[in-house]
Amino acid sequence: MAMDYIEEIRRLKRDRGAVILAHYYQESEIQDLADFVGDSLQLARVAKGTDAEVIAFCGVHFMAETAKILNPSKRVVLPDLEAGCSLSESCPPDAFAAYKRLHPDHVVISYINTSAAIKAMSDVICTSSNAKTIVDRLPKERPILFAPDRNLGAYLVKVTGREMLLWQGTCIVHEIFSEKKLVQLKEQHPGSRVLAHPECEESILRHADYVGSTTGILKYAEKSADREFIVVTEPGIIHQMERACPGKVFIPAPPDNTCACNICPHMKKNTLEKLYLCLRDLSPEILMDEALRLQALRPIERMFELTDAGA
Ligand code: 13P
Ligand code: SF4
Repeated sequence: MAMDYIEEIRRLKRDRGAVILAHYYQESEIQDLADFVGDSLQLARVAKGTDAEVIAFCGVHFMAETAKILNPSKRVVLPDLEAGCSLSESCPPDAFAAYKRLHPDHVVISYINTSAAIKAMSDVICTSSNAKTIVDRLPKERPILFAPDRNLGAYLVKVTGREMLLWQGTCIVHEIFSEKKLVQLKEQHPGSRVLAHPECEESILRHADYVGSTTGILKYAEKSADREFIVVTEPGIIHQMERACPGKVFIPAPPDNTCACNICPHMKKNTLEKLYLCLRDLSPEILMDEALRLQALRPIERMFELTDAGA
């Protein structure tokens, strides 16, 4: 008889004293099993504060690694260790160290979508939901080097008015939305609102009614009096949008190829079966060198300080 993964995961979660955290881009069935579903910043906060013995992180590697950096006494497991991120991969530590050496007077802001090695070389981390706040709160006289997402960086230059040196990384999911197809879709749905993630290119963001993090996009749709939305990010978020907004219509924006929507191949590496196995075996586990962890922790703590400073 086929195994009932959902029942088995629930049982193992209890036996292991585990908490399941999931990003909005995970498969719907994983989101439905999770104790908490959120964006990168929310997931980092929950991972930092949990007293569960095991954190089963249904997301990509940098997210699980951030959880370990923040809460090192917990066992952090990731269903598939190969669940990476194109932005993180676009910023190799050696090349970044050399680039940083060329600009010693710059304050380094790194997006949370980076490896621990890049975080360890950074002054402060940001996510898509607090990036503008962080930039606004840095001393005006300090020049900024921003890595690795050139689209989020360009968006920040526009909304903060601050010049920045930008590392030229991109997200494979967000950089291939088609402007032409988006404009056509808007014409077909005249009353719709376009909600976009800041990892998209400027040619896409210029058509957006709202630009923000995954949580920002979800909240905008919840509060809006409008009924129809074109969603320009990974379509996994639509599961929570439909749950939160019965009766509203969410249309995934098409990429510049023959597919109907942009799936993140890294996020989708996690499956129910792999989640079951990682809770059963407590493997694959995120393990870190303690010196590196402490170096990477410093700019993440600075992120929380700057984010919460006005709260
Ligand atoms: P959020 O923090 O907005 O959820 O973004 C994470 C991410 O990887 C977007 O591609
Ligand atoms: Fe990385 Fe892009 Fe996937 Fe987000 S959507 S995890 S930035 S590859």
